Amino acid sequence: MDFNMSEEHEAVQDAARDFAQNVLLAGVIERDNDQKFDRTLIKKMGDLGFLSMMVKPEYGGGGMDTISYVIAMEEISKVDASAAVIMSVNNSLVCWGIQAYGTEEQKKKYLTRLSSGDEIGAFCLSEPEAGSDATSQHTTAEDMGDHYLLNGTKNWITNGNSSEICLVMAQTHPEKGHKGINVLIVEKGSPGFMVGRKEDKMGIRASDTHTLMFTDVKVPKENRIGEDGFGFKFAMTVLNGGRIGIAAQALGIAAGAFELSLKYAQERKTFGRPISDHQAIQFKLAEMATRIEAARLLVYKAARLKDQGKNYIQAAAMAKLFASDVAMWVTTEAVQVHGGYGYVKEYHVERMMRDAKITQIYEGTSEIQKLVIARELLK
Ligand code: CAA
Repeated sequence: MDFNMSEEHEAVQDAARDFAQNVLLAGVIERDNDQKFDRTLIKKMGDLGFLSMMVKPEYGGGGMDTISYVIAMEEISKVDASAAVIMSVNNSLVCWGIQAYGTEEQKKKYLTRLSSGDEIGAFCLSEPEAGSDATSQHTTAEDMGDHYLLNGTKNWITNGNSSEICLVMAQTHPEKGHKGINVLIVEKGSPGFMVGRKEDKMGIRASDTHTLMFTDVKVPKENRIGEDGFGFKFAMTVLNGGRIGIAAQALGIAAGAFELSLKYAQERKTFGRPISDHQAIQFKLAEMATRIEAARLLVYKAARLKDQGKNYIQAAAMAKLFASDVAMWVTTEAVQVHGGYGYVKEYHVERMMRDAKITQIYEGTSEIQKLVIARELLK
């Protein structure tokens, strides 16, 4: 067991911190206010290699390990959780899924585009009646011989309007239940593919979340990932890794709110002393730091297991369950430490509190994580 970072990991951390503090921080409040998805920032993230960290170099990626990815996710999430979720979906759901299970042609065709920042990906599993109950897919992919005919609606899709490449789960053989589901690569601009309503969200407002509609969209057979009926297993397997990314996002939101609180507590004076001299504040800081450190260990453990090729289902679910609760708790305390200033936008922590909430919901709610953990324990 080694608690030290390698030189490469330190370099990744420095690069991500530099990008977050010097590029993302300016404008983060405005982007949140205006719900502005900033394409130029996404392109910069691609240029710096943050959109395809685990993709092999021959497909345009960084060829890095999962630890590097969570380190970068933490630093970026400390400042801008919206940029972090765009990055997370592209890295762990879309790129990782294609790299792990795609054909050579699919990897060559899509991974380079997804790595550059010129194009980004979306992961389309959720539906109006299939959120936690993901096996109940109503979207259909009818087998027409050389292509599938895709019909249905997907909800709450991160990067919904901005993505060029979508991984869409759809039912081909309803009689087979979840074993009849396929995953198809669907390109924006395909006739019958429409972007619907944009969600007006509580947090991560600078990422665009939309409903997507598919009406008789023709998807070539070669765009199916894996064998016929592999789609649900694909979604579940990819989400195991995605949950490590979201756990790292939650960790970063918590750590960012903590860093601001630590600084503020030493600057703000009450009763003639910095508030950090008051035990009430010291206890808050101590508990925030302890919970964050515990979350970090769980996130790193899950990432390490994944890099070692071991089973990380339980570890990923535990990391997400715990880190998302830590994010919610720490950001709420951060607002409290900041007092009235914490309740206004200028001081960032109110945004972080709003951003934290989604980490308990997407890529499997906290209740689903408990289900996953319990099932692994009882196997
Ligand atoms: N890893 C690998 N395989 C898994 C798995 C996991 N974590 N969980 C389930 N499976 C497999 C099972 O082994 C089973 O396969 P077999 O039939 O071959 O044995 C199959 O999936 C069905 O599993 P269950 O019988 O357990 O099905 P269930 O309906 O009882 O439970 C569930 C399934 C675990 C609740 C699943 O529906 C689930 O994870 N729901 C949450 C969905 C989710 O996380 N959605 C996130 C949306 S994407 C998103 O948020 C992205 C974004 O934009 C940020």
